[in-house]
Amino acid sequence: MATIVSVPKTSSGDAYDILIEHDFAKLKDAIIKLGFSNKRFCIVTDSNVGPLYADKIVEELSSIAKEIKVLTLPAGEENKNLEQVQKVYEFLIENHFDRKDILFALGGGVIGDLTGFAAATYLRGIKFVQIPTTLLSQTDSSIGGKTGVDFNEYKNMVGAFYQPSLVYMNMSVLKTLSARQFASGMAEILKHGLIKDNSYYEWLINNFIEINDLEAEFLEKMIKRSCEIKAEVVSNDPKEQGERAILNFGHTVGHAIEKYMNFKLTHGECVALGMIAACWISYKRGMLDTEEFYEIRDMFLPFRLPLTLEDDADLDRIIEITKSDKKMESGHIKFILLKKPGKAYIDTSVTDDEMRDAVKQLILTDD
Ligand SMILES: NC(=O)c1ccc[n+]([C@@H]2O[C@H](COP(=O)([O-])OP(=O)(O)OC[C@H]3O[C@@H](n4cnc5c(N)ncnc54)[C@H](O)[C@@H]3O)[C@@H](O)[C@H]2O)c1
Ligand SMILES: [Zn+2]
Repeated sequence: MATIVSVPKTSSGDAYDILIEHDFAKLKDAIIKLGFSNKRFCIVTDSNVGPLYADKIVEELSSIAKEIKVLTLPAGEENKNLEQVQKVYEFLIENHFDRKDILFALGGGVIGDLTGFAAATYLRGIKFVQIPTTLLSQTDSSIGGKTGVDFNEYKNMVGAFYQPSLVYMNMSVLKTLSARQFASGMAEILKHGLIKDNSYYEWLINNFIEINDLEAEFLEKMIKRSCEIKAEVVSNDPKEQGERAILNFGHTVGHAIEKYMNFKLTHGECVALGMIAACWISYKRGMLDTEEFYEIRDMFLPFRLPLTLEDDADLDRIIEITKSDKKMESGHIKFILLKKPGKAYIDTSVTDDEMRDAVKQLILTDD
C-alpha cells in the first residue's frame, strides 16, 4: 500500500507529494499526473546508484518520455561541487534540454542537492523530481527544497531554495545501502522524534531490532512519520527564518566534528554526537533528568551510532570550529536544546563553558 505525505504550497514553491512505495511501479503514473509526459527526461545519478537502479527507472518511464538520458556522476561528498553542476549544464545543453524538460535526481543527498541546484539554475529553473535512495535523503534532504553544493572547504555554501515537483521513494532500495549509511539516516530520524514527537521517539527505540532488520511495515511507518515531521517544520518556515532551525538539533557541534574529523565520520554519526552534546547542556540546565539524558545517549548504540570520540580528540579545536560555524546570530551561537524529550527550542544563551563541558563529555571514554 502506498503512502502519501503532502507538502503544502509555501512562499518558496508549489505544493508537492511525497510518495512512499515498495517499488518503482507507480512512478510512471505519478509523472503522467504531473503532466510531464512527452518531455525529455534527464536522470542524474551517481556511480554507485546508477548501475543498480537507473535502468529500472528508464524502463518504467520510457513509454511516456520524448527521450531519456542518464548522466552518471562520481559518488561522494567530495563531488558535491560546482564542477559537477557544470557537467549537468553541459549535458543538458548538448542534449538540447529546454525549460519544459525534466530533471530526475536518483541517489542520496549529494545527488539530490546537486541536481536540485542544477534544476534551480538551468535556464532560470526547470522542474525536477527527487528519487532519494538513502535513508537520510528519504527522510530529510529530499524534502524542503534546500539545494546546493559545497564550495572550497565550505559545506553547502552555494545554493538555492527550490522545491521538487515530486518526491518518489522506493523503500526497497535501502536493501543495497550499507549498514553504516543506514545508521547515518537513523540519526536524523531519532532527531525528528527528539525535537517534535516523544511518542515517535519511544516507538523508534522500542523497535530498533525490526528497524535495523529493514522490516517493511516498520520502515514504512518510520519513513512516513519522519517525512511528516520534516514536511511540517519546513512548510511552517520555508526559508529558515525561525522554527525550521530546530532541525539543526545536534548540528552545531555535529558540523564541527564533521569538519574536525575531515569527513571520515558519516553526517549522522556526527549529528548523533552533536545531539548528545546538546542533550548534555539540556541536562545540566535541568530540562532533562539523569535517566532521560542517559537513555537518549545510550540508545544511539543499538542504532550503530557512536557515543564518544577518540580520547585523544582535540577539544580546543572542536570548540574553535563550533564557534566559527555559520549559524552565529549577533555573536551568539544558535543552539538547539531540548525543553524535554520531544520538544526542542532555539537558545542563543549557551556559554563557552557550557559548550566546552558538553563536548568534553564526548571525549571521555566512559563515565
Ligand atoms: N537539502 C537538505 O535539506 C539536506 C539535509 C540533510 C543533508 N543534506 C546533504 O545530503 C548529503 C548526504 O546525503 P547522503 O547521506 O544520502 O549521502 P550520499 O548521497 O553521499 O550517499 C551515501 C552513499 O550511499 C550510496 N548510495 C545511495 N543510495 C544507495 C543505495 N540505495 N544502495 C547502495 N548505495 C547507495 C551513494 O552512492 C554514496 O556512496 C550531504 O551532502 C548533506 O549536506 C541535505
Ligand atoms: Zn543533518
